[in-house]
Amino acid sequence: MTDAMAEAGSMESRHRGCLETLRERGQEHVLLWWPELTPAQREQLLRDIESIPWNILDGVIESHVVRRPDRTVPDDLTPAEVYPQSPGPDREATYQAATVQGRELLSAGKVAAFTVAGGQGTRLGVDGPKGAVVVTPVGDKTLFQLFAETIGAARHRYQADIPWYIMTSPANHEQTIEFLAARDFFGLPRHDVILFAQGMLPAFDSAGRLLLAAKHRLALAPDGHGGSLKALATSGALGDMQSRGIEIISYFQVDNPLVKPFDPLFIGLHASTGSEMSTKVTSKADDLERVGNLCVSGGKLMVIEYSDFPDELAHERNADGGRTFDAGNLAIHLLNVDFVDRIAGDSFRMPLRRAEKAVVYVDEAGELQTPTSPNAVKLEAFIFDALPLAQSPLVLEVDRAEEFSPVKNATGVDSLESSRRDQIARACRWLEDAGVTVPRKTDGEPDVTVVIAPSFALDADDVRRQRDGLLVLHRGDSVCIE
Ligand code: UD1
Repeated sequence: MTDAMAEAGSMESRHRGCLETLRERGQEHVLLWWPELTPAQREQLLRDIESIPWNILDGVIESHVVRRPDRTVPDDLTPAEVYPQSPGPDREATYQAATVQGRELLSAGKVAAFTVAGGQGTRLGVDGPKGAVVVTPVGDKTLFQLFAETIGAARHRYQADIPWYIMTSPANHEQTIEFLAARDFFGLPRHDVILFAQGMLPAFDSAGRLLLAAKHRLALAPDGHGGSLKALATSGALGDMQSRGIEIISYFQVDNPLVKPFDPLFIGLHASTGSEMSTKVTSKADDLERVGNLCVSGGKLMVIEYSDFPDELAHERNADGGRTFDAGNLAIHLLNVDFVDRIAGDSFRMPLRRAEKAVVYVDEAGELQTPTSPNAVKLEAFIFDALPLAQSPLVLEVDRAEEFSPVKNATGVDSLESSRRDQIARACRWLEDAGVTVPRKTDGEPDVTVVIAPSFALDADDVRRQRDGLLVLHRGDSVCIE
């Protein structure tokens, strides 16, 4: 038998296997165009079909796609217990000891950075990886550069190897690697920057039928940032962490230029309390801010997303007038490697969420349709749904102005503009704290455009230590201190 004949034979048997699997589920329509496909297209379609995790999907197509899952939130929700930003006399010693422990864990090389960067950046209107967007008001630094500099500075401060794992999606994986490689991984050792693509799940029509993006392609979409836990395991990244002796994963989203991923207090509290997964929160900007709410139900810590959170709870007040549910999810988490290993291995128990989206598809006549309103259901897992699965999860409150100003939208709240303003405000605070005079306008806003590169300082203390070398600021100056 020639190689070509063997190949054709194996393709035929794969085709038969796929057809059988699809028929059992009433999904054989995706092979409708098989007779007219080229061998390369047939190969592609078989690969798409073989990648479908039926073990996960069989149980949810009826409940989450054909029907809308019940979105009622538990009726026993109480606000999560939060470690306050400032300890108060009763916790001062605990916070001090935790900070020491956090520094020790960093110095011992037990902590890895993990950025989830698989999202499409649709709301921001960017084409390509969001991490490649320039976000600083001066200095032309991209999100990826800010994170790389932060990791570089932490490696220097703690004299430790801190690997950086980046989760991309198949849609932006190659572009992300190209972007980082063209910049020489911003000076980080190449072997300490590990990229892997997240998993994909098929999109369905409202009857639960698989959609075709082309005659030889399923319509596939990223499986959500919750899919990162599975992708860490299947990509080998988790094994890589284990072989390096990493114990704690510092998880953050690609959209937040102010993130502080190596916070000794957070790491120390997480470790000393035996938490398997911890999360940072901040006091909500208003009752309906578009952040997840940290709550407890049935003794389990959980996040109820803003879109699901009942209005009456969002507006509820304590006796002292304070907001009852005030802890907003910053999507900055610590996860133990052992914990991720357990959930990822356990047939992946993270729930899937339904999202209705407009998805381009090939109709029954073979014509490509480009709907302008939602025609499809996508399924996604959310990282915060791991919190109820964790032992002793911990919540720490932080100062929003210091750590959170995401770039999500083109304009308005959480936009490039608002984030740049917050970056300048933080830099000015750090400089004033070090004794530098910041020219300000009559309304108190800085009259300078200044940012502090992470390579120069990771926090206000770093700036203070270098105060002698700091420049004098004049009205209208535009500087990136690095
Ligand atoms: C998220 C949180 C919200 C939190 C807020 C803080 C969710 C559902 N909500 O909202 O509780 O208060 O951040 O900023 O997470 N991503 C992937 N793969 C995917 C999907 C997303 O890697 O398949 C990444 C994106 O690249 C991005 C991050 O996850 O880094 C955020 O995703 P997004 O869907 O934009 O969540 P938000 O609405 O911003």
